[in-house]
Amino acid sequence: MSIIILAIESSCDDTSAAILKDGVVLSNCVANQTIHEQYGGVVPEVASRAHQENIIPVVDQAIKKAGINRSEITAVAFTRGPGLIGSLIVGVSFAKAFALSLGVPMIEVNHMQAHVLAHFAEDPKPSFPFLCLTVSGGHTQIVLVRDHLDMEILGETIDDAAGEAFDKTGKLLGLPYPAGPYIDKYAKEGEAVFDFPEPNVGELNFSFSGLKTSILYFLKKQLAENPDFIQENLNNICASVQDRIVSILIKKLKRAAKQTKITEVAIAGGVSANSALRNTLQKTGEEMGWNTYIPSFQFCTDNAGMIAVTAYYKYLRGEFVGQDVAPVARYAINIGHES
Ligand code: KG4
Ligand code: ZN
Repeated sequence: MSIIILAIESSCDDTSAAILKDGVVLSNCVANQTIHEQYGGVVPEVASRAHQENIIPVVDQAIKKAGINRSEITAVAFTRGPGLIGSLIVGVSFAKAFALSLGVPMIEVNHMQAHVLAHFAEDPKPSFPFLCLTVSGGHTQIVLVRDHLDMEILGETIDDAAGEAFDKTGKLLGLPYPAGPYIDKYAKEGEAVFDFPEPNVGELNFSFSGLKTSILYFLKKQLAENPDFIQENLNNICASVQDRIVSILIKKLKRAAKQTKITEVAIAGGVSANSALRNTLQKTGEEMGWNTYIPSFQFCTDNAGMIAVTAYYKYLRGEFVGQDVAPVARYAINIGHES
């Protein structure tokens, strides 16, 4: 009998559903919540309500696109955490009701493990052990991946995530939320002529809050002299900020590869959609003799396809959960339990 998994992702502001059959993602549908643009960030209460509106249409779309009948589904998977608790509750409650109505088991998934395992939705797949730089709106981690479900964090941010550095800079520049894709777009037309300082943080950890502050003071000073400074220099500011964020990320990734002697190197998470990060990783990989793995865009930002892939490996190990499962806002990647 085939393994057919319906997966639900609702940890932040994207509602997503996917269907996987025997390890292959057949559909991966996402409803973005553009309503948060006007607030300059995700408003948790608004996100929960939008998930409630989106979840049934997105699941219907995923089932239809996969060309399966809902009675063929053999398990229902969902993101248990980490994430916004109100958003997670919508996905978990839906999964419980759906699984109960079909009489099939449930599989809970760690969102950060899933970002890493998005690499197993496509070819070529990394071989073990590999390093994964997971960069999103909430996390920045260098993960040592020993096996599908055996991961260890070697370094992570001590304050803001890389995605937050993009988004908060964008806010200072008057760009809509999330600003990462806008900064990426404007940077393509500019040059990194402004020099922002590199944070002094040890080993494989990251820090981005100082960068945000230095950009704030830089802009204040420039705007005092020229009120049109941002409009006149937007492309160059974006290129400079992006260049600094990417150089911080790649430097630590190089250090991790050197320390572990691992040459299989991947990136994952929303910020891995960034064109400068993708190009720099590829170039660095060629210089260092690494095999590099860069996900296609649909598997970078939050999506249920990656939840389905992770659930598949848990299904093979018989890791199911009962109706008493609850979502968790914090969820450690390495032990599979809430922290
Ligand atoms: O993984 P993700 O979709 O959600 C979280 O789990 O956080 O990541 C969202 C983050 C946002 O901060 C967004 O600005 C950033 O990914 N992002 C980008 C790009 N596309 C999305 N950052 C830089 N360049 C991009 N092209
Ligand atoms: Zn994410």
